[in-house]
Amino acid sequence: MRITVFGANGPTGRLLTDQALASGHQVVAVTRRPGSLVPRAGLTVAVADATDPAAVATAIEGTDAVLSTLGTRFSKNPVTTYSASGTVITDAMTRQGVTRLLVVSSNILDPQWRPSGAYFFNHVLDPLVNRRLGRTLHEDMRRMEGVIRGTDLDWTFVRPSGLFDHPVVTAYRTAETSADGVFTARADLAASMLREVAERRYVRTAMGVITTAVKPSIVKLIWNEGVKKK
Ligand SMILES: NC(=O)c1ccc[n+]([C@@H]2O[C@H](COP(=O)([O-])OP(=O)(O)OC[C@H]3O[C@@H](n4cnc5c(N)ncnc54)[C@H](OP(=O)(O)O)[C@@H]3O)[C@@H](O)[C@H]2O)c1
Repeated sequence: MRITVFGANGPTGRLLTDQALASGHQVVAVTRRPGSLVPRAGLTVAVADATDPAAVATAIEGTDAVLSTLGTRFSKNPVTTYSASGTVITDAMTRQGVTRLLVVSSNILDPQWRPSGAYFFNHVLDPLVNRRLGRTLHEDMRRMEGVIRGTDLDWTFVRPSGLFDHPVVTAYRTAETSADGVFTARADLAASMLREVAERRYVRTAMGVITTAVKPSIVKLIWNEGVKKK
């Protein structure tokens, strides 16, 4: 399969690219910073801002599926990265007759999502970190899901919980709409996307993805995702 990966230079996008190449797919890695991607057999690098219609149209030419792991940071200001890129990517796909789209969003977008047995997360961290500091980002993620839902494409929203790095793929779990857990390893998120491309179990719906086999330290996660990443 020929797969186009947006956000290919980000932490999940790199894993997704590596796993896709290892599975024998041809990968078009879309990035704004091409210099930091190592050239390999099966890999084509496309330089594009995901909100640039001409560059996106070129990047997805001849592809079988588009997988997006792109994202941005929390901000006090309105965020537009998700909805703007979602609009440009779906427009280009529709024009070119490319139908399969998997986009990373978040379990937070399910209004009923409250992971069980996670009192501190549900009552302290989630309201403060995700719903207050991450408010504008999640508003835009929601707009992106709305844009994509309005298309005729075969889309899947891939919804992780708090992301952390773990060196190997574990026995992750998926569930429709959202998954009951606080954490998702990026390696599992990438693996779930590749499996969904092959299996098509969650077409035109959302797939929650969680990791239960290993648990990161919550302090380390906040440090890595909220402080160090900026
Ligand atoms: N962190 C969490 O706990 C958490 C939880 C749930 C969901 N998520 C979502 O999971 C996804 C993956 O997160 P991640 O931490 O692996 O990646 P990330 O740090 O959010 O980075 C994603 C990549 O997106 C690229 N990007 C942003 N805007 C772009 C644009 N206009 N054009 C082209 N590329 C653009 C960035 O490219 P550059 O390198 O060029 O800047 C970056 O490499 C994100 O959507 C995130 O919101 C995260």
